[in-house]
Amino acid sequence: MTIKCIGVLTSGGDAPGMNAAIRAVTRAAIYHGIAVKGIYRGYKGLITGEIKDFQTQDVSNIIQRGGTVLKTARSEEFKTEEGRRIAYQTMQAHGIDALVVIGGDGSLSGARLFAEEYNFPIVGLPGTIDNDLSGTDLTIGYDTALNTIVEAVDKIRDTASSHERLFFIEVMGREAGFLALNGAIASGSEAAIIPEFALEKDQLAETIASGFRKTKNSSIVLVSESEVTGGAMGIAERVRNEYPHFDVRVVILGHIQRGGTPSAQDRILASRMGVAAIDALLEGQRNVMIGIDNDEIIYVPFSKAIKKNKAIDERLVSILHMLSI
Ligand code: F6P
Repeated sequence: MTIKCIGVLTSGGDAPGMNAAIRAVTRAAIYHGIAVKGIYRGYKGLITGEIKDFQTQDVSNIIQRGGTVLKTARSEEFKTEEGRRIAYQTMQAHGIDALVVIGGDGSLSGARLFAEEYNFPIVGLPGTIDNDLSGTDLTIGYDTALNTIVEAVDKIRDTASSHERLFFIEVMGREAGFLALNGAIASGSEAAIIPEFALEKDQLAETIASGFRKTKNSSIVLVSESEVTGGAMGIAERVRNEYPHFDVRVVILGHIQRGGTPSAQDRILASRMGVAAIDALLEGQRNVMIGIDNDEIIYVPFSKAIKKNKAIDERLVSILHMLSI
């Protein structure tokens, strides 16, 4: 089937670099003679028909902007068969014969279902700060969020060290520890408490037993937001009860991690992946996410990408531990 017109949408939590991805998808498609329609507010826009014809100038001056110019949403209606039926009818009415979906795990799960039900091509781009999609080394937005975390931790370290306090800083990740672990390494934090190991070991007890107070009077521990770890609040509560000699404070970084101008790495990744999405469609690929593996673009079937089993590299845990003595 020859693709004449694609729709592009962003869905789920926004991530810095999504605009660079929208730009790349739009311009690569137009370069290859394919028309582009921008769909607003994720899948919701397919249901309500919020769709605009995109020319190259519609994506001018956005590569440097955080957020997403297409807006985003988590659509409950799209989760129903009826919602997806309306979405498909809208696509047909607008002459859209393939979709590029930029988003995280929930968005790509929706894409998978939609593509299977209506048998048409969808290509996904991994857009999430969490870096939790399987089959890709990196996701769009992760690098910028890591940099935001590092900048914040550097500031907190000043006051932590003046007051000789123990800080638990909660970072995002939705049950994935990539931001916490790599954020801890990059900021020189003493430890990270992440969901991946929360059931197999008591990371707080281990951290304290390893004696991070032997050589330092202040300490910073990054904690992934998570029901399993209890988040920074839960961990700090434990310390107050079990290790009351520590002067503890909690910072929850929250949505600051999702905003801001995308890093050069994220802009490059988004540009490469956006171009690859159009190449994939031209090659007849369907229902795959664009991934990056050892700096090579790869196609990852949706079923693999959304598996939620992306492993943490345990060598990073050792490095963090070794360098925090
Ligand atoms: O998936 C991205 C993310 O920022 C997660 O890290 C976090 O758990 C969640 O989205 C927060 O979502 P919301 O936009 O609903 O606050």
